[in-house]
This record gives sequence, C-alpha cells and structure tokens, in this order.
Amino acid sequence: MASPAFRIGPVKVENPVLLAPMEDVTSLAFRLICKRIAHPGLMFTEFVSSMAIHYGAEKTLKKMRIENEERPLGIQIFGGDPEIMAETARVSAEMGADLIDINMGCWVPKVVKTGSGAALLKDPDHAEKIVKAVVEAVDVPVTVKVRAGWDYSLFAAPDLAKRFQGAGAQMITLHARFAKQGFEGEANWQLISDLREAVSVPLIGNGDIKTADDAKRMMSETGCDGVMVGRAAISNPWALARITCGVTGDLAPPEPTLEERIETAIEHAQLTVMAEAEVDHFADVEALPQKEQDAIELRAIRRLRGQLPLYIKGVYGAATVRGRLSRVESLQELSDILWEFESYVRSEQARAPSA
Ligand SMILES: Cc1cc2nc3c(=O)[nH]c(=O)nc-3n(C[C@H](O)[C@H](O)[C@H](O)COP(=O)(O)O)c2cc1C
Repeated sequence: MASPAFRIGPVKVENPVLLAPMEDVTSLAFRLICKRIAHPGLMFTEFVSSMAIHYGAEKTLKKMRIENEERPLGIQIFGGDPEIMAETARVSAEMGADLIDINMGCWVPKVVKTGSGAALLKDPDHAEKIVKAVVEAVDVPVTVKVRAGWDYSLFAAPDLAKRFQGAGAQMITLHARFAKQGFEGEANWQLISDLREAVSVPLIGNGDIKTADDAKRMMSETGCDGVMVGRAAISNPWALARITCGVTGDLAPPEPTLEERIETAIEHAQLTVMAEAEVDHFADVEALPQKEQDAIELRAIRRLRGQLPLYIKGVYGAATVRGRLSRVESLQELSDILWEFESYVRSEQARAPSA
C-alpha cells in the first residue's frame, strides 16, 4: 500500500498518523521515544500558554525546545488575545516549529475562564481574529485543533473551520466531542464526515482511536486525511507503531517484550530528568550539586508517576507493583522496582506447568 502522505503547505507529512498534543505527556522525552518506535507522520508539543510566553516565563520557553530528529513538529499554543497569540507564534517559529497549532479544544476551567481553548468555540468572530493574527505573524503553516462545539446545542465546527480556512489555516483537526462532554461518551465520527464537506484543507479526525482498524475505519468512513492518536499512545509507543503500520501497510513491529517495556520506561524517566535539569538550571544534571540533582530527579519522576505503571499494563502481575510505581521517588528506585518485577514474571513463567 502506498503511504498516504499529505502536505500542510511546505511541510510534508510522511504518513497520516499524528501523535496528539497532550499536556504533561508529549514532552520532548516522550516525543523522541515515539519517533524512534512509531514514526508518526507529525507530532505536537504539549500546549504552551501564550500568557506565559508574553511574561517571559523561561521555563515555558525551554519546554518549547525541539530536536531535529523529531521533525516535523508542531508547537501548540493557546490564548485568547490575538496580539499575544501572534507574538507567541513568532517565538514558536523562532524556536524552530515546523508549524503552529492553535488550541481551541481544551475545556478545563483554568483555560476556558481566560477566554482560551474551547471558550473560543463560543465566539467565532474572535476565534477568527486569533487565527488571522497568528497566520499574519509567521511564515510557517498555522493549523487549528477544535472540538465539535461548546455543547450539543450547536455543531459549531463547520462554520468555524470555514472561517479559519478563509483566514489562512492550513489544517483542521477535529476531536469529535463537544467541549462540555470532556471525555465522556464516545467520539461521534459522523461529525468528522460532516466537517469534511465544509473544508478543503487537510482534515484530521481525532477521538477514541485505539487500534489500526479504528484508524482505517475512521479514514474510510469520514474521508479525513489523517488521524490523531492521544490516550492509546500514552506510555505505549508500540500501540502507536501498530496504528501507523496498519495505515501505511508496513509490517507492524512485534509486541514489545517485558524487557523492552522496562527499558523504555526507564529511558523515558531518564530523559525527563535531563530535560528538567535543563529547564531549571540550563545545565547538565550531572554538573549540578548532588542535592540539586536529587530534587530535580524527584520532581521529574513525580510528574511521571501516573504514566509509569502504564508501561507494564496488561502484563501478568503488573498490579502487584502499581502501588510502588505510583510512589516512586528516584531513577534508581524505578529501575529496582521494574527489574524486580521482571525477575518475578520470569520465575512465575518458569514455575508454570508447560502445556
Ligand atoms: C493527558 C491529556 C492531555 C491533553 N492535553 C492536550 C493539549 O495540551 N492540547 C490539546 O489540544 N489536546 C489535549 N488533549 C486532548 C488530546 O489531544 C485528544 O484530543 C484527546 O485525548 C482525544 O483523543 P484520544 O481519544 O485519541 O485520546 C489531552 C488529552 C489527554 C488525555
């Protein structure tokens, strides 16, 4: 099967499987791992607050760091002020973003109450102004990620997407739920088909893709140009790889061994600690005093606590270490817990009577 590549302006997207932007998940560390294992056609940063950039938050700037090997990469930004969004888009382009994605899907109160994210779905004129300002500010393509609308009373996405296309947006992603739904209920893929009629720029469908079959079905049922995968990829780059291969027709990689899962979880944690040191101290973690290193390690590992158990989810006996993983405080402890678990699984397998 020919790989159904597509373009977003000058940006070539080699395959139509995109890794979703996810706060606290799609860090540089995780993106590098996903790129190596799953080769998604395009990835995005966690969303970046335009206000944080406006006020010169060094940590946010550092979080926008991009490595060449992860390209093409979109920096996703959010905010409610057209000028500040334009300024943030310029900074993102200077940081090397291949494209700028505007978030109009985030429904959490801390974002919505500032007039950002999904709040913009309720104000099409203002939303269009933001897209226009961002498009005018940068030379790289601008894309927008929306939900279907604020609530069930109005499927706002078609009108919005047409306006955004008119304002120069070069790709639209639809998470096929309404903002008020949060993550409740199933994504309604029919909304993606309906939006397909409204726009000619690449349309990406998003919501509830877990397998390659889901991805293929979404593409054939809705006519979207690509699919975006979020939760199924968290701590599971192999699931993303299976989806990518299913869509491109390439041979899917074998299921990861337990060793591979453990090595990847530890690598994820190590890279996160390194990134944390750079963000906080502009330094190599090993160049810092031991006390500082320990504090950074603890902070980085704490942030990953929710994701680490997912690396071994589904493996026989994984529940026995879930509690310890959710309290883990250092790289050494993480490694000890995971390798002890691996020995336990091996000994259980050796004891099991052969069929
Ligand atoms: C932990 C988490 C963080 C997220 N953060 C963002 C974000 O920063 N920007 C965004 O546009 N969407 C964000 N989302 C939404 C996802 O990009 C995606 O639209 C949603 O999860 C639906 O896709 P899925 O069913 O494949 O998970 C987030 C979702 C999750 C689970």
